[in-house]
Amino acid sequence: MLGIRYPIFSGGMAHVARAPLVAAVSEAGGLGIIGSGGMSPEDLEREIARVRELTDKPFGVNLMLMDPNVPEQVEVVVRARVALVTTGAGSPSKYMDALKSAGIKVFPVVPAVSLAVRVEKYGADGVIAEGMESGGHIGTITTMALVPQVVDAVSVPVMAAGGIADGRGMAAAFALGAEGVQVGTRFVASEEAPVHPNYKQAILKARDRDTIVTGRTLGRPVRCLLNKLTKTLARYEEEGRDPEEFESLAVGGLRRAVYEGDLETGSLMAGQISGLIREIKPVREIIEEMVREAREILSRGLDF
Ligand SMILES: Cc1cc2nc3c(=O)[nH]c(=O)nc-3n(C[C@H](O)[C@H](O)[C@H](O)COP(=O)(O)O)c2cc1C
Repeated sequence: MLGIRYPIFSGGMAHVARAPLVAAVSEAGGLGIIGSGGMSPEDLEREIARVRELTDKPFGVNLMLMDPNVPEQVEVVVRARVALVTTGAGSPSKYMDALKSAGIKVFPVVPAVSLAVRVEKYGADGVIAEGMESGGHIGTITTMALVPQVVDAVSVPVMAAGGIADGRGMAAAFALGAEGVQVGTRFVASEEAPVHPNYKQAILKARDRDTIVTGRTLGRPVRCLLNKLTKTLARYEEEGRDPEEFESLAVGGLRRAVYEGDLETGSLMAGQISGLIREIKPVREIIEEMVREAREILSRGLDF
């Protein structure tokens, strides 16, 4: 459907998934996705042009539906005729006609069966079932429980996301009925990710319980590494402080993490699988190891 070698998407991560990472993933046989969250339409146009300078392989754009620039961003991707659009944080129904009539495949990110069924009705070409172990904005259901339920509920291809960082995770996604995977955190800690080294090192250092979800009481849960910022935000929520106080600390947090490497007041968005990631590796190596390991696991028989 997408003309790619391996069914591996890199997550359309705001600020992180810019041209160097996106092009590296597509060059290595997966599908890189630009994270357009926080980009002006002009920035997005420039980023698409940068990817095209680096690769002639297909790539995608993620539209963060909470972003006020989405209507103009849709015009940009339609003009650029990118291969794929993924959408996060809501239903893309009102943009579906424009995207599909430009020949763009649309794969909304869904945290629950109900949204998967709804977007299929609107004409989604596939869905990305994203579990709550993921980094960034999340739902409430785990990948293990969500993926097979979405697979049973829709007839379009399902990509699994959340907690996948190696071939074991990829093989597990296939066992659950997914046709591919979307990987976020593992690619933040890749050589090509245009991310401050402090952020990458923090992922390498993290253990299994070193992430926290904040913002649930405000209706916008986000998973990040534990640090001064996220501990303070969690305390504010416990104390039932004014959401404006919460917001004033959280705003711009991902920018501070990505560009400044601010380990104290930055939002180091990352998933629970951070504890498995021990080394910064080139994207090609990550993808090839993942595919090799998944193939090996899936070719093993059962001995019972
Ligand atoms: C730093 C970071 C930023 C993210 N930003 C976005 C975003 O802007 N839009 C989106 O749909 N998903 C976003 N995500 C989610 C990823 O695209 C992906 O689905 C998720 O990371 C998969 O889970 P994993 O981190 O366990 O691999 C983000 C994830 C991370 C780690």
